[in-house]
Amino acid sequence: MKMKAAVLWEPKTEWSVEEVELDPPKAGEVLVKLVGSGLCHSDEHLLTGDLALAEETQQELGIQQFPVIGGHEGAGEVLEVGPGVTGLAPGDHVVFGFIPSCGQCPKCSTGHQNLCDLGAYLLAGRQVTDFTSRHHARGQDLGLMCCIGTFGEHTVAAAASCIKIDNDIPLDKAALVGCGVTTGWGSAVYAADVQPGETVVVVGCGGVGMNAVQGAAMAGARHVIAVDPVEFKQEQAQIFGATHSSASLEEALALVGDVTWGTMADKVILTMGVAQGEYIQPALAMTAKGGRVVQTAVAPFTVESVSMNLFELTMYEKQLVGSIFGSANPRRDIPRLLRLYQEGQLKLDELVTRTYAIEDINEGYQHMRDGTNIRGMVIYDHAN
Ligand SMILES: NC(=O)c1ccc[n+]([C@@H]2O[C@H](COP(=O)([O-])OP(=O)(O)OC[C@H]3O[C@@H](n4cnc5c(N)ncnc54)[C@H](O)[C@@H]3O)[C@@H](O)[C@H]2O)c1
Ligand SMILES: [Zn+2]
Ligand SMILES: [Zn+2]
Repeated sequence: MKMKAAVLWEPKTEWSVEEVELDPPKAGEVLVKLVGSGLCHSDEHLLTGDLALAEETQQELGIQQFPVIGGHEGAGEVLEVGPGVTGLAPGDHVVFGFIPSCGQCPKCSTGHQNLCDLGAYLLAGRQVTDFTSRHHARGQDLGLMCCIGTFGEHTVAAAASCIKIDNDIPLDKAALVGCGVTTGWGSAVYAADVQPGETVVVVGCGGVGMNAVQGAAMAGARHVIAVDPVEFKQEQAQIFGATHSSASLEEALALVGDVTWGTMADKVILTMGVAQGEYIQPALAMTAKGGRVVQTAVAPFTVESVSMNLFELTMYEKQLVGSIFGSANPRRDIPRLLRLYQEGQLKLDELVTRTYAIEDINEGYQHMRDGTNIRGMVIYDHAN
């Protein structure tokens, strides 16, 4: 079939919305009609080159990263299933987990589906079933961001990437839980393990960070301090449960000292647009003895230098931990978070500032760079 999708032909260019040829699903794969896709900063990393593998690395691994269809935060309806797919049928509604979860590898089978072995193929972008492409344009095979490629009207992806949800949940809202919501909420609830009465700082309040704010509030934090240079984000953070806000890490240091009477923050969660090594020491400096910094924001591949005071790390038993997909299990947590939404305890509607047609995706990303969106979302118009 033919459909429209946003393709990135090489880093440091724009998304090109064009006709893409899509093959039917093969064994273990599913054809999905997308309803919506969130504009997450991780696709922007692909565009800026932060996540672009060096040419030599691609050759070594035997993969070709570009051209690639972007998008990894989406939901839609199953139209067709390939041979051998069980548990999914045409008409089912699914959210894509941006990490496949096979259910059988050592990490999946011990309750860490966010670390599924199939995650190794996320940037290779081919089908994890047989490492070939179902998407083609201009006579070339296309890769898929996170092996799903939600910046298209339709996609074919492995059943391992599909989480079935109840059919009465609006799919445009459900899409958000495929990345930003679960990543942010889980960064607070699982990775930071926020406890009632704690002081939590969230640094960077976009589509991911805003959900770390709501996760920390839901877990019972006493103070939730939202740090973002953009005033609009600071204001919006209050809707999601922030008790205080500040414009920078430096400003937040003084505020945290004030509200905790000098004992500092129990948990600091880093969710700014682009992670850098120089943010670690300021984050550790505002962390209490025995406290934890969670590194959720993605840094450019090449960042290896980090500033931190190792003496303080030891003496105060501070922890620095990474987190992918909020350390959540997609097959449990996606339906769980959507249940919280249905019962009015998790905010999803308030996260989407603007919606776009796929043709306007570059404008959507400009709004992200301008700081005017919490989350922008592409909505597919299948009537055209
Ligand atoms: N670990 C994971 O599993 C995972 C999943 C999704 C996204 N991410 C990453 O999380 C990060 C955030 O993604 P997003 O979609 O929310 O991005 P976003 O652009 O929507 O939000 C980033 C926010 O950070 C703010 N910011 C920028 N620099 C800052 C600074 N120095 N201090 C404080 N705030 C600052 C911006 O104003 C913006 O509000 C990105 O790096 C993204 O790639 C990680
Ligand atoms: Zn994402
Ligand atoms: Zn697995």
